[in-house]
This record gives sequence, C-alpha cells and structure tokens, in this order.
Amino acid sequence: MNKKSHIIATGAYLPQKIMTNNDLAKVVDTSDEWIRQRTGIISRHIAEGEETTSYMATKAAMQALNNAGLTGRDIDGIVLATATPDMTFPASATTVQDNIGMGDHGFAFDIQAVCSGFIYALSVANNFIVSGQGKRMLVIGSDCLTKLLDWGDRTTCVLFGDGAAAVILEAHEDDGSGRGILSTHLHSEGKHCKLLYTDGGASSTGTIGHIKMAGQDIFRQAVTRMSQAVVEALETNHCSATDIDWLVPHQANIRIIESVAKKLKLPIEKVVVTLSKHGNTSAASIPLALHEAVEDGRIKQNDLLLMEAMGGGLTWGSALVRW
Ligand code: ACO
Repeated sequence: MNKKSHIIATGAYLPQKIMTNNDLAKVVDTSDEWIRQRTGIISRHIAEGEETTSYMATKAAMQALNNAGLTGRDIDGIVLATATPDMTFPASATTVQDNIGMGDHGFAFDIQAVCSGFIYALSVANNFIVSGQGKRMLVIGSDCLTKLLDWGDRTTCVLFGDGAAAVILEAHEDDGSGRGILSTHLHSEGKHCKLLYTDGGASSTGTIGHIKMAGQDIFRQAVTRMSQAVVEALETNHCSATDIDWLVPHQANIRIIESVAKKLKLPIEKVVVTLSKHGNTSAASIPLALHEAVEDGRIKQNDLLLMEAMGGGLTWGSALVRW
C-alpha cells in the first residue's frame, strides 16, 4: 500500500519581547494607523539574547513532541526551514537534533526558501515519508528576520517579526480515508531575486546584510503567485474552493490574504489570520497559524486545509492536507 504523511502534532514558540506599532513609531517615522491600514499588523515578537533560530525551533519542536506523546528518539529526520540560521554553518537543524535528544539517530538539515520555507520543508519531508526513508519527520519553520532589518527603513522594518513553529509528520498506510498530505507544489523564478533580498551574504560581502524590498512589486507578485498556487492545488486534486475548510496562508499582509481569498471567492471566515499579532515571521508564519487554529479547535479531523506561500527568490508553493 502507498504511504501517506499525517500531521499528528504541532508546536510553536514566540519570543518574550513584544513590539507594538506604537513602540515602532518611537523608532522610525511611522504610525499605528498607517501600519494597521496598509498591512493589518498590530504587534510583533522580537527575539533577544538566547532566543536564536535553533532555540525557538527547539521550543516549538519540544511542544510538538509533547503534544504527540513522543520523544526525540522517535524522530527519523528534521527539516528546518530558515533564512536566519544561528551560524552560516552547521545547519541549525543539527543543533535542534541534539537539543531534542535524537543523539546520532536519523539526520537533520536546513533548507532556505525564505517565506515559502515551510511549504518547501513540508514537501521535502513528505517525500522522505512517502518513499519509506523515515517513519516520523519533524518539519520546522524558524526565523529571526528582525536581525536582518534596517531599523531606519520604515518601508521594511514595520513588516517582520520572529518566531518558530513545528509539525510532526507520521507515515500511515493509505487506507482510503483520504487523510494526510494530498499534494505539494513548489515553484521559483530567480529572475525576480532583486525584488526582495538581503544586501549581504557569506560569499559576497561577508556580512549578513539588510532586507531590501520593492514593496509594490512584491505585493502584485504575491497575489498572482499565491492565487496560481491555490488553483494548481485544487485542480490537481479535482477540488473546488468550496471544498476548502481552512485556507492557512503565509501571513505577510492582510490585503494580500484578502485579495487571494477574494479571487477564490472564499469567505474570510475560512481563512486563518494571525499576522496582526506576529507580523511576517517568514518560514514560521504558516505553521504558527496552523498551530493556533489546531489548538483553539477550529481545525478538526477530516477538514481540508490549503496552505500557500510566496517569498524571496521568488519562491512559491502550496500544500493540500486532509487533517
Ligand atoms: N509608515 C508610514 N508611511 C510609510 C511607511 C511606514 N512604515 N512605509 C512607507 N510609507 C509611505 C511611503 O513613503 C509612501 O509615501 P509617499 O506617498 O509620500 O511617497 C506612502 O507611504 C505609500 O507607500 P507605498 O509603498 O505606495 O505603500 P503601499 O500601499 O504599497 O504599502 C507595503 C507598502 C505595506 C510594503 C506593501 O507594498 C506590501 O505589503 N508589499 C508586500 C511586502 C511584503 O509582504 N513583503 C514580505 C515578504 S514577501 C511575502 O511575504 C509575500
């Protein structure tokens, strides 16, 4: 029988420090009103001190393990999506592997697709499960994008926040129930890499750089690409938008989310929206939203979930999941 990945648990971590729009208005020439109206963001969490990418990822992973009643020894592999690793190398995933007590069992590596990172990581981990190379995989999105901000640039510093969230995938025989990850689709188009990038890196400047963004171009690309991703997922699975119980989108801007929902004719009540409290947390954004809706009971067994994201690269993609 074919194998299917079931998401059996979620976990999340948000840094202690909260920065509101009013706090930001003391740092840069902006206002709560402007940020709310243009983005939907009200506050964001800022990682400080020991709250590195691997620290946040470990906290999220431990919560997911506890929720599943498992330990690190039960995990065969970790795929950690991040654009802000603790160090250039080794992968932050190996630190998480050690922190959760996997010892030398299994493997752990990072992948980098910025805001699409969780969809990419989920797709990679799902392939390990489907091909029989792992029984349980930990998929984590963890990012500290505020470390890459130019706090004097009001066009970018108001948009991002830090956080991490994790899911555990488990192999199940495809019993015809229809549950599990039904499809993933990944895309990229490198010619647009300068629409959203950092002006630094290990092999170029030797610095980590700051985020640079062509906001309106990114906005247009995001609506187009995420709408395409949604349609592709639905067509592949012979579904329509009315079949979706929950859209769990990348949380960048409420106007982007509303535009995609409108194109789909999907009522906003069916969209999980968390960005007002987190801002754009890059690879953590989808699993943070997923975790919240699972914990508060909105997402129930057999619900059909569509996740979609777009990020720097450009990268974009989707995952359709029967919970
Ligand atoms: N506070 C106050 N005013 C501001 C701010 C700010 N933080 N930022 C820009 N402005 C000003 C501009 O200078 C401009 O002033 P001007 O008219 O005097 O020149 C005015 O506000 C309008 O600026 P626009 O760039 O036209 O504003 P827009 O409505 O396009 O909103 C925004 C900007 C929020 C960045 C929007 O383009 C956006 O969300 N783009 C997508 C960016 C994004 O989501 N990136 C994340 C990564 S990619 C992803 O996750 C999908």
